[in-house]
Amino acid sequence: MPIFDHFDFLAPFYETFIPPKAPEEMWAHADLPATGALLDAGGGTGRVAQYMHGKAHPVIVADLSCKMLGEARQKDGLRPVCSHTEKLPFPDGAFARIIMVDALHHVVDQRATTAELWRTLQPGGRLVIEEPDLRTFVVKLLALAEKLALMRSHFLSPPRIAELFPYPNARVRVETGKFNAWVIVEKLKP
Ligand SMILES: C[S@@+](CC[C@H](N)C(=O)[O-])C[C@H]1O[C@@H](n2cnc3c(N)ncnc32)[C@H](O)[C@@H]1O
Repeated sequence: MPIFDHFDFLAPFYETFIPPKAPEEMWAHADLPATGALLDAGGGTGRVAQYMHGKAHPVIVADLSCKMLGEARQKDGLRPVCSHTEKLPFPDGAFARIIMVDALHHVVDQRATTAELWRTLQPGGRLVIEEPDLRTFVVKLLALAEKLALMRSHFLSPPRIAELFPYPNARVRVETGKFNAWVIVEKLKP
């Protein structure tokens, strides 16, 4: 367990430096609105989840930083849950939609995290992982900067993230933006 958590420290200023962005792209990738619950895994201050309120119900933000979740608690319609994404406190198939934005490269165990996202996704559901695209030069610099800041980040390229869903009933595709990519995973019904 680290004695210093960067995100506990950053929580009060986080959205000053990383402001909310227009949600339409995520709505489209996540095929929202949807009937059922939505999980924002590693959702932090609820910067992204606040725009999912009204598009699915309930909207749950899971994060291990209590300070980040404290900010999420102040936003309408979000249910903060303190949890590691490597071991989520939800039953199998609990969520119609799962999103994870800018968080996969921060978790300690990415394989355990994606296994948990898959387990808690309902058949017929969809999960979207948005990450900085390591194939771009800018993101390579970002990865280096986070290493120098001792953030223990571990970036994977979008195809490597896609490989973390080797299930026969997974339909996986990658969408690419300027510096970001979205790995979109559908859990097909049997
Ligand atoms: C860069 S922030 C992104 C927050 C939010 N998704 C957003 O886009 O604004 C990364 C978040 O991942 C959380 N995090 C890192 N490792 C985690 C883990 N293993 N389980 C749950 N949350 C984790 C951090 O506490 C932090 O809030």
